[in-house]
Amino acid sequence: MKINKLFVVILVIFLFFTGFALLKRGKWEKYYKNKLDQPPRQIIVDALQLFQTSGQAIDLGCGVGNEAFFLLNHGWHVWAVDSESKAIQLIQNRMDTNAIGKVTAVVANFAEDSTWETLPTVDFIYAAYALPFCKKEQFGKAWAQIKNHLVVNGRFAGHFFGLNYRGFSSKEMEEMTFLKREDVLELLQGFEIEYFQEREEDGLSGTGKSIHSHVFEVIARKKER
Ligand SMILES: C[S@@+](CC[C@H](N)C(=O)[O-])C[C@H]1O[C@@H](n2cnc3c(N)ncnc32)[C@H](O)[C@@H]1O
Repeated sequence: MKINKLFVVILVIFLFFTGFALLKRGKWEKYYKNKLDQPPRQIIVDALQLFQTSGQAIDLGCGVGNEAFFLLNHGWHVWAVDSESKAIQLIQNRMDTNAIGKVTAVVANFAEDSTWETLPTVDFIYAAYALPFCKKEQFGKAWAQIKNHLVVNGRFAGHFFGLNYRGFSSKEMEEMTFLKREDVLELLQGFEIEYFQEREEDGLSGTGKSIHSHVFEVIARKKER
């Protein structure tokens, strides 16, 4: 009887931890699967049209790399950065060795200074739906690194989440950053804003979940050091 009880306790603990591990592992997997067949986002198509020539770019939170490959195919050298090894693995499997540009894919956290020590100063930093997944305490530092790693006349393109975004649990939201319109505009001091769109709508997330999204989409050119 005692042994049976012990067995049940061990089983419950085992199921709890494997369940937790699976949940954690699956955090982006469905999203990545859905993204694989999709074309590059319009914002990167628009941003590239603002450049006269190709150069060096960083794609922060690159996911499966659709946009990193778009840059690559336009002759850019891209540092594709994601904290999920699964994402970087997928990119490495998709590499086309005949491409004119180059992709350097790295597993790294953009909220850590040590990551930025390994990244060059570039002409373009792209961060699509990635920066909001950074804790509020780390966000300011990450943004300062983005600014520092852009050459003068270099561009940032990407997304910030607004305060009305709904679709994440309160636990998830603790690990994220949501901003007011004024906060976003303040971040863009020292930039010329070339495109700014605030969008709020009901819809589906990248994993098919019902959400109310509130997003600021931005393209901006750095004016000064
Ligand atoms: C919503 S997905 C967006 C992926 C891609 N940019 C796109 O547009 O589909 C967010 C991505 O950011 C990555 N990410 C979140 N926080 C990160 C961090 N601190 N450092 C690096 N990558 C991060 C996640 O692993 C995930 O791949």
